[in-house]
Parts: sequence; C-alpha cells; structure tokens
Amino acid sequence: MRRKLVAGNWKMHGSLADNEALLGAILSGLHDVKADVAVCVPFPYLAQAKARLAGSRVAWGAQNVSQYARGAYTGEVSAAMLNDFECRYVIVGHSERRTLFGETDAVVAEKYAAAQTAGLIPILCVGETLEEREAGVTEAVVSRQLDAILARSGVISLANAVIAYEPVWAIGTGRTATPEQAQAVHAFIRAKIRALDAEVAEHLIIQYGGSVKAANAAELFAQPDIDGGLIGGASLNAEEFLAICRAA
Ligand code: 13P
Repeated sequence: MRRKLVAGNWKMHGSLADNEALLGAILSGLHDVKADVAVCVPFPYLAQAKARLAGSRVAWGAQNVSQYARGAYTGEVSAAMLNDFECRYVIVGHSERRTLFGETDAVVAEKYAAAQTAGLIPILCVGETLEEREAGVTEAVVSRQLDAILARSGVISLANAVIAYEPVWAIGTGRTATPEQAQAVHAFIRAKIRALDAEVAEHLIIQYGGSVKAANAAELFAQPDIDGGLIGGASLNAEEFLAICRAA
C-alpha cells in the first residue's frame, strides 16, 4: 500500500506573521491526519519553516531550484542551499514555472536531476493546458514531460521522486478535474512507468493538484492511482488544509 502525501504549495503568498499563525494552526490540528504532510514555502521562509516544523510530522520544501550547482546566476537558488535548510522536497516544473517563466522540459529535467543529486525529493509537476485537453493530446503532453525526465535521469530516479499531475486548466480556477478524469491520467502515468519498472511504478506517489478543496478531496483521493494532493489556494487556510489532509 502506498502512503498518501498532501503537500501545500503556498506559491508567492505569506509573511512571517501569517506563516507563524498558519504553521501553528497546522501543527495543532494533525491528530487525526494519517497522510504524510508537507508545505512548500517561498525561499525567504525556509528558515522559518525549519525552525517551526523541525521535529514535527510536517516536512517542508521549496517551490523551485536552480539547475546549476553554483556560479554567476543572479537570483537563483541551488539545491545545496535548500539542503542547508533541510528541505525534504522541492517542486520542479510547476506549470506556472513552465508557462510564466519559460521552463522547458529540458530545463525541468536538469532541475530534477540537480535536486536529486543534492538528496532532495523532487515533486515533478506534469499536466496539459485546456487547449491540449480539448485537442485530445493530454497523454502525449504528459508523456513528453515524463520522457524528458526518463531520458535525463532514468526510470530508477522515480524511486526517489513524487509526481504531481496538475492539469493547467484546473489550477486556481475552481474547476477541478473529476475523479474519473484525474484517475485516467494517473493510471496512464503509472502504466507508462510500469512498462519500464514495475517495482518503481508500484511505489510511486502520484499526487493530483488543481482546485483541491476539503469538499472534493475525499473522492479524488479514493481513486486507486491518486496518492494525495498538491494543494495551492486551500493550503493557505489551516482548517481547509487540515480537512484535505484528513481526507487522505
Ligand atoms: P490550486 O489548488 O490553487 O488550484 O493550485 C494547485 C497548484 O498549482 C498546486 O501546485
């Protein structure tokens, strides 16, 4: 049986004061949560996350990482730097990075490799746009995004990674994929990996992300290939986030 992982992606939200309250409320509401829980915070708040969460059940991580180890890359943050803050996870290839900041499949594959080299667990985001879904190329797009990783790091790298299926049209739109729509893509991803390595596929955590709320989490997480969620907006509200964690 795979464990479920619920991770909050705070995106570019938060302040020292707000985070203090949010993390405190999450920590005090974990009693009937069985899933693994994590929060991915903006870089400046990693020290706060570490100070507040060390020794607790809640892991923390970052939302992006440089593909480079060090050097003249103004504004970038390396995987080794994330290690200094004891991050467990780092999101790579989020659709907002791909579409707003021009990250290609090749760049995402380099970031994924850099994270793993440093011992971090990449949460690799894949997913299609609305146009791609309507054109019937969802599987081709997700496949292409995965192939870049497989070519760079091999299937065995997925033994130390998490995949998040996040249909772009469901992110921040209030329009969640139906459990059946999400399950179909999750099953496709697992089958693709299974064809290369059955053991890796069996243990691979595949999260769903895109307008997950307390109200729809349980039916999504009940699907056989949905192993938790990557939660944006709803992760900024402790009660809502905890309810999602409880549903997993
Ligand atoms: P929302 O939950 O706000 O739709 O965001 C999903 C997401 O992008 C998580 O990475």
